[in-house]
Amino acid sequence: MAGLVQANHAAVSDRVKSFIFLSKKVVIANKKYPGIYLKNNIAGRKTILRKLEEKDLGRSLVWLKDPCVNKFLSQDFKNLTMEHEIQWFRRVQDSQKDIVFAIDTKDSHVYIGNCDLRKIDRIERSCELGIVIGEKKYWNKGYGLDAINSLIDFAFNKLNLRCIKLNVYKYNHRAIKLYKKCGFKEKKVLKKNHFYDGKYWDTFVMDIDPERF
Ligand SMILES: CC(C)(COP(=O)(O)OP(=O)(O)OC[C@H]1O[C@@H](n2cnc3c(N)ncnc32)[C@H](O)[C@@H]1OP(=O)(O)O)[C@@H](O)C(=O)NCCC(=O)NCCS
Repeated sequence: MAGLVQANHAAVSDRVKSFIFLSKKVVIANKKYPGIYLKNNIAGRKTILRKLEEKDLGRSLVWLKDPCVNKFLSQDFKNLTMEHEIQWFRRVQDSQKDIVFAIDTKDSHVYIGNCDLRKIDRIERSCELGIVIGEKKYWNKGYGLDAINSLIDFAFNKLNLRCIKLNVYKYNHRAIKLYKKCGFKEKKVLKKNHFYDGKYWDTFVMDIDPERF
């Protein structure tokens, strides 16, 4: 019993510490939107992660509706409209659990994609990661690697999280290669749970912790 109380106490003070860390270092409530917002852009070697703005949504919509892009994404965006995008954007601005970034190239400031940390859980200190480089001519040039490294660094070293999870379809060879290169490991396989192109495909659930980064 005493052990349990002690353990609970330790867990609570851990949570308090983590919350204080989170509050002091990064998460500052914005007057207009109470959600998490970025004080400074995050510069990597090839990319800059900046706050997504409403003016980016038109480009974003084109990417999400592109069948070559959205076949890799977890939602079906075929019927997505600008109104849906705006509603989603405003919801995220108010969220304490999600943060979305625009990805710009570092050298010429071209907006090439988006990435996010979702379902940020301050007790578990975990979140889910998502990325889309919508400008296809920028694929396979190391922009994804750079953006994900920045995102992981932000999650572990600024938000003080300790586990990042993601889901990826078995046919997304490029993304799987990239995630493994960043340190993600396959945790489990959701057998044949995704229907695409006339077939059922496995989904890999992957995760990373600070030791593997
Ligand atoms: C997945 C994505 C983020 C990767 O970004 P990127 O900038 O293209 O990736 P990078 O260039 O940093 O790395 C890709 C790696 O995959 C490799 N690759 C490319 N095609 C591959 C294939 N068919 N099989 C195996 N590896 C492949 C590349 O050679 C590169 O590895 P290397 O650096 O060791 O040579 C981007 O392509 C994208 O947004 N795709 C569409 C949406 C998507 O799939 N999102 C992820 C959903 S889980």
